[in-house]
Amino acid sequence: MTERILVTGGAGYIGSHTILTLLNAGYEVVVLDNLCNSSQESLLRVEQICGKSAWFIQGDIRDRELLDDLFSTQQIDSVLHFAGLKAVGESVKQPLDYYDNNVSGSLTLCQAMACAEVFRLVFSSSATVYGEPTHMPISEDFPTGVPTNPYGRSKLMVEELLKDLAHSDPRWSIALLRYFNPIGAHPSGLMGEDPNGLPNNLLPYVSQVAIGKLPQLAVFGADYPTPDGTGIRDYIHVVDLAEGHLKALQAISHKNGVNTWNLGTGTGYSVLEMIRAFEKASEKPVPFKIVDRRLGDIAECWADPSKAELELGWKTERGLQEMMSDTWRWQLLNPQGYATKRY
Ligand code: NAD
Ligand code: UD1
Repeated sequence: MTERILVTGGAGYIGSHTILTLLNAGYEVVVLDNLCNSSQESLLRVEQICGKSAWFIQGDIRDRELLDDLFSTQQIDSVLHFAGLKAVGESVKQPLDYYDNNVSGSLTLCQAMACAEVFRLVFSSSATVYGEPTHMPISEDFPTGVPTNPYGRSKLMVEELLKDLAHSDPRWSIALLRYFNPIGAHPSGLMGEDPNGLPNNLLPYVSQVAIGKLPQLAVFGADYPTPDGTGIRDYIHVVDLAEGHLKALQAISHKNGVNTWNLGTGTGYSVLEMIRAFEKASEKPVPFKIVDRRLGDIAECWADPSKAELELGWKTERGLQEMMSDTWRWQLLNPQGYATKRY
């Protein structure tokens, strides 16, 4: 029988790309999203690409009544849990919103799942839970560190909550997926990242500079102990990331307890290397200025992804130039993001 997956936050950037992968793999998908940081248009684009659609419910993961109703009317087998707030700076200014959405929301979701006896969960965690490791690459057995902001702490809290839960009841099968830096877009140019207002993350900012929407990029620090002085990160193509979710979902159907996997490429690139690669893909200049370091940033962060390769049979397939050209195609075809009229 076809498995049915509940995808919370499925209208968002990573969720929508993962839904496409799930539908292509033959799963049925139910999406729960309150659209606080997304538009339902992303799901229409999924349908345009694959000819299949997900069932959409507009609602909040903190709404227990809605969740109970959803689990009692839909035969859900597993949950992919993307819903949450993710802007680091905003989390410093509005910590309660972050703990409420990310921590209380996850708690309510787990309570409703337990009540409905749905015990398979894939959680969107982040490499931010490692804090500031002393050496690279980062493997899953590194201790979790001290995240520098409420967003990071909310992710670590949910990880701890899920570990306690699995410890209390062996029926739970939980995947903690620690993403490194997701970038890129679907190669069709129909789906991609659509940040609200001024982008916080590097790639959306760079692509808006290249298209002329923003005048120049501020490079946050060129005095890090890295070869060119700028910060190094492990950028992963969102389609590779989506495929990692499919593999994790399949793995936890026959693995109980909590399993943690890094989803990264194993290669780090500096900010200056990223700028050069984007200029090459877009054939546009990306003017930049070196400014002070951003508070809370670390010098370098890249994954040891070998556990995921060994246990999930997953590794990334898309390189830096593909990440850049797919981002650029999305930006060119959708200057207003999902508000751009479909062609
Ligand atoms: P996104 O903002 O595009 O998607 C999150 C979705 O959740 C949005 O559609 C939003 O409307 C929805 N949502 C938020 N709060 C909700 C609530 N209370 N109830 C229902 N829906 C709600 O973000 P994304 O980049 O796709 O990230 C997905 C997940 O991955 C998040 O949990 C994020 O913290 C995590 N993550 C993202 C990154 C990244 O760089 N994008 C890195 C590490 C981890
Ligand atoms: C940020 C978050 C992290 C989150 C991750 C993925 C912070 C401190 N950390 O990580 O918690 O999990 O996003 O969503 O915000 N850069 C510039 N100029 C810019 C933007 C970024 O130079 O305008 C640099 C940064 O200093 C960093 C690199 O680009 O070296 C990547 O930055 P970003 O895309 O924001 O991701 P992270 O800082 O790794």
